[in-house]
Amino acid sequence: MTHPLHVVILAAGAGTRMRSNKLKVLHQVAGKPMVEHVLELAQSLNPSQITMVYGHQGEQLLQQYQDASVNWAEQKQRLGTGHAVQQSVEFFNDDEDVLVLYGDAPLVQNADLAHMSGQQYVLTAKLDDPTGYGRIIRDGERIQAIVEQKDANAEQQAIKEINSGIIQAPAPKLKKWLSQLSNNNKQQEYYLTDVIGLAASDGTPFKAIELKDHNAVKGANDMEQLAELETLMQQRKRKTLMKQGVQLIRPESVDIRGKLHCGQDVVVDKGVIFIGDNELGNDVHIGAFSIIKNCQLASGTVIEPHSMLDQVKTTGACSIGPFARLRPGTELSEGCKVGNFVEIKKSKLGSHSKASHLSYLGDAVIGKDVNIGAGTITCNYDGVNKFTTTIKDGAFIGSDSQLVAPVTVGKNATIGAGSTITRDTPDEQLTLSRVRQRSVEDWQKPSKK
Ligand code: UD1
Ligand code: CA
Repeated sequence: MTHPLHVVILAAGAGTRMRSNKLKVLHQVAGKPMVEHVLELAQSLNPSQITMVYGHQGEQLLQQYQDASVNWAEQKQRLGTGHAVQQSVEFFNDDEDVLVLYGDAPLVQNADLAHMSGQQYVLTAKLDDPTGYGRIIRDGERIQAIVEQKDANAEQQAIKEINSGIIQAPAPKLKKWLSQLSNNNKQQEYYLTDVIGLAASDGTPFKAIELKDHNAVKGANDMEQLAELETLMQQRKRKTLMKQGVQLIRPESVDIRGKLHCGQDVVVDKGVIFIGDNELGNDVHIGAFSIIKNCQLASGTVIEPHSMLDQVKTTGACSIGPFARLRPGTELSEGCKVGNFVEIKKSKLGSHSKASHLSYLGDAVIGKDVNIGAGTITCNYDGVNKFTTTIKDGAFIGSDSQLVAPVTVGKNATIGAGSTITRDTPDEQLTLSRVRQRSVEDWQKPSKK
């Protein structure tokens, strides 16, 4: 019978070495706070409960995760990892297995865990440089004790097998061992790792389970280690994508800060950053140095280099960029073309409509087969309110026009270049609003006085 699993996440560390005002576990890896990676891992285990041990600056944590269904256990004084787990004991049920995870070790994955119900185990790893970690004192598969770096003698310090920090044990046993901890050590802390020695003395030693991925144990205590975690996490994400058939031309330059779903034959060029949740259809190409945030790009969409897309949806194959800036609420239908130095916000473009150069389209509803000439601006803002510009199917907007919203350009209408349109224009007709061109025959050039 499998026991219900109670996951305890330790997040009460001070994180002084980060030299930051932000709580350590809230620092981000791959666009998400470290503790959130750990929380998601905990949730993926179908636990009976999750208890978060918080302390130093814990309000930041409580505020950010107030909607998560977790128990909050406060560790008022930072007296060690064993003391931290003790704060969660009030939530233990006797039939549960308790799994302890660290809030600053976000690389651990579901597959790394041993999933051994009713047993006590420690996840270990062999490191070339084990400095700083607790060392595993083994007796075959069983562990006699874990000795912290600062308490270890020379012989123990030579041991390469280290404690990941992740342990699991049945709740009643763990509760008993936790109550027996003392702080009689170099750091005068209540070590969770002493539980392992107590278990061995009881004749029920912990098993050591070696992690396949040694990097999974890595945590961040300072900005350098945080950057290392980022590198490792990005490598992992890129590997997964490439296995799925995504072509990353220069993999090491691409960052995925969030989730990325790709169809077949997606190509991503150098220096692209994906942020948030992105979905790319088949044959989508993302040009170099583009930033793609929370977008849904339909099959065949091509993004040319140096484009910035935020909450953009294409519903058919489109061509965007280079140097396009598409802001939230941009929706492009099949065959649309958005060229260089075009900014679009909260606007829909119907199929085969084009804005090829230097335009601002905001709060616009644009039909199909519309041509927006270079330099067109929708004047959507009067300084207080925003208004809509409607451009009907087949309209042609001459270059350097201003459409002062609220205004509607009729179906198949043409707007003469350089017009300032303040009233609705009729279907099918040419509308222009500009001074008639004239030449002054006897005009004299000014001369220097
Ligand atoms: C700990 C282990 C060590 C292991 C290493 C793996 C102990 C005594 N040592 O050492 O064997 O190799 O992790 O990374 O357990 N925390 C609290 N409250 C406290 C102290 C810590 O919540 O009073 C939390 C921290 O926020 C962190 C985790 O516990 O998430 C680990 O604490 P840390 O001080 O980093 O432990 P290490 O010295 O690295
Ligand atoms: Ca640590």
